Amino acid sequence: MPFAARLLATVRTRARHATGRAVHRGWRWVQTRGAVSSASPGPYRFGELGDGSTLAFPTGTIFNESSIRIGPFCIIGERVTLSAGFLPGLDLGPEPVITIGGGCVIGRGSHLVGHQSIVLGDDVWTGPNVYISDQAHEYRDTTLPIGKQWPRNEPVEIGSGSWIGTGAVILPGARLGRNVVVAAGSVVRGEIPDYSVVAGAPAKVVRSFSDVDGWQPPFRHAAPTPLPDGITAEQLRALVGWDLRPPTGA
Ligand SMILES: CC(C)(COP(=O)(O)OP(=O)(O)OC[C@H]1O[C@@H](n2cnc3c(N)ncnc32)[C@H](O)[C@@H]1OP(=O)(O)O)[C@@H](O)C(=O)NCCC(=O)NCCS
Repeated sequence: MPFAARLLATVRTRARHATGRAVHRGWRWVQTRGAVSSASPGPYRFGELGDGSTLAFPTGTIFNESSIRIGPFCIIGERVTLSAGFLPGLDLGPEPVITIGGGCVIGRGSHLVGHQSIVLGDDVWTGPNVYISDQAHEYRDTTLPIGKQWPRNEPVEIGSGSWIGTGAVILPGARLGRNVVVAAGSVVRGEIPDYSVVAGAPAKVVRSFSDVDGWQPPFRHAAPTPLPDGITAEQLRALVGWDLRPPTGA
């Protein structure tokens, strides 16, 4: 290949690499600047957005955020829909429609779509693409399209410390107790007792805890190796590779 052609190919390759680096650096900058927190709320005026809580950018659809309360130290993943009502610009009254307690983590691509009341306690963690709604369409009038019938609301509650696996759907009227595990892909309705594991569609209790019998049926897997005694915060950070400092909201 002639020298000029080789030079041109090298310049093109370097330019392509530089463009790729610039796009990714630029996107990281946009993500950092676009993240929503109480220190940097952007265009949003939440009913409450606790200190140390962050909504990752790009956010999902956010409607009527004055009816949404988010406690402190929550992480709301990218593209999470937080919708109070089904249209923007609604006055939904003084009561919150969506309440998220402190220390919650909502996985990317999840949807919390509230019309009356969705309440998550503290430290509720969800995997990605979880769907939680307190409303269903009514369908009993055979003369009207279902979409034009008045919908039905039933409040949803998710107890503190619960963990919702990826792709789960929490239906209107579901009331989950404390530390409930929802298996990936489950469809949950009704009352779920504290300290239980539910799985399937419709979700059924597959494991539960009582003071008398402990966890039944017994676990199939061994408990993780406990941390060594006397481990310092720095050693723990190094071990798990997490930066546990609260976000600065920069
Ligand atoms: C529920 C889960 C945590 C396992 O909990 P566990 O208490 O160890 O449950 P087991 O594996 O002992 O399974 C108990 C029963 O539930 C069933 N089960 C477990 N997960 C299930 C699921 N996702 N869907 C349907 N059934 C499921 C098992 O087949 C088993 O049924 P069986 O007794 O008839 O065989 C795990 O299966 C799961 O779904 N994790 C979510 C992972 C995830 O979403 N990660 C990303 C989010 S951070």
